[in-house]
Amino acid sequence: MTDMKELLRSLPSLPGPYVPFDTAQAPAQPEPLFAQWLQAAIDAGIREPHAMTLSTVDGDGCPDARVLILKNVDEHGWHFAISRASPKGRQISDSPQVALTFYWPALGRQVRIRGTAHDMGEQTSSADFLARPLGSRAGALLGRQSDVLESQQELEDGLARQLRRLEQQPDVLPDSWVVYAVRPREIEFWQGNEQRRHVRLRYRRAPGAAWSKERLWP
Ligand SMILES: Cc1cc2nc3c(=O)[nH]c(=O)nc-3n(C[C@H](O)[C@H](O)[C@H](O)COP(=O)(O)O)c2cc1C
Repeated sequence: MTDMKELLRSLPSLPGPYVPFDTAQAPAQPEPLFAQWLQAAIDAGIREPHAMTLSTVDGDGCPDARVLILKNVDEHGWHFAISRASPKGRQISDSPQVALTFYWPALGRQVRIRGTAHDMGEQTSSADFLARPLGSRAGALLGRQSDVLESQQELEDGLARQLRRLEQQPDVLPDSWVVYAVRPREIEFWQGNEQRRHVRLRYRRAPGAAWSKERLWP
């Protein structure tokens, strides 16, 4: 295990150089700043800049987390698409308080969002499902995500069955597909700094109130 410790110690963290974050220029709302940072991540050539960690809590109060793809950002919040029947889907049904985390390494930037997940309704969920590639739709129709897999053959047979079904009924929809939007109550923009003078800006809002923003100690 010493080797592991040394290996990890030999790896640079936050090596920079990074573009300074001038919080005085930050907009009054977090959405345009998020759009700017996402665009900067795309321009920097970061792969899957729209990947984020969704954190949830299970019925025992134990946290759970996994990576998902961001599907939209609008007046309803930050969207993602999942199966209601999956562990995360069940966790959100029981407790819609969630967190989203983005990390863009080449820029030394992190965005942390805390809020409540809202079901965007049948129309949005159906439109999202029908826009998915065929293989993704077959997988979602098959369901059983995160169940124990007894054999690869069972998976292959199931996918083949769903692909045949999609050929006959291209508009078929699974009941379980859902788009959630996370309505944030706080969002933190974190800009790493080589001298560890990280710049942190947190936006917060109480229900029905406007956003306020404040700097945080690094
Ligand atoms: C880059 C990346 C993108 C992913 N996107 C999604 C997604 O949009 N929706 C989804 O349900 N799972 C996605 N996954 C898989 C999830 O991380 C997770 O393994 C799966 O949803 C099961 O999670 P659960 O057991 O907590 O329900 C993605 C994984 C990675 C690494």
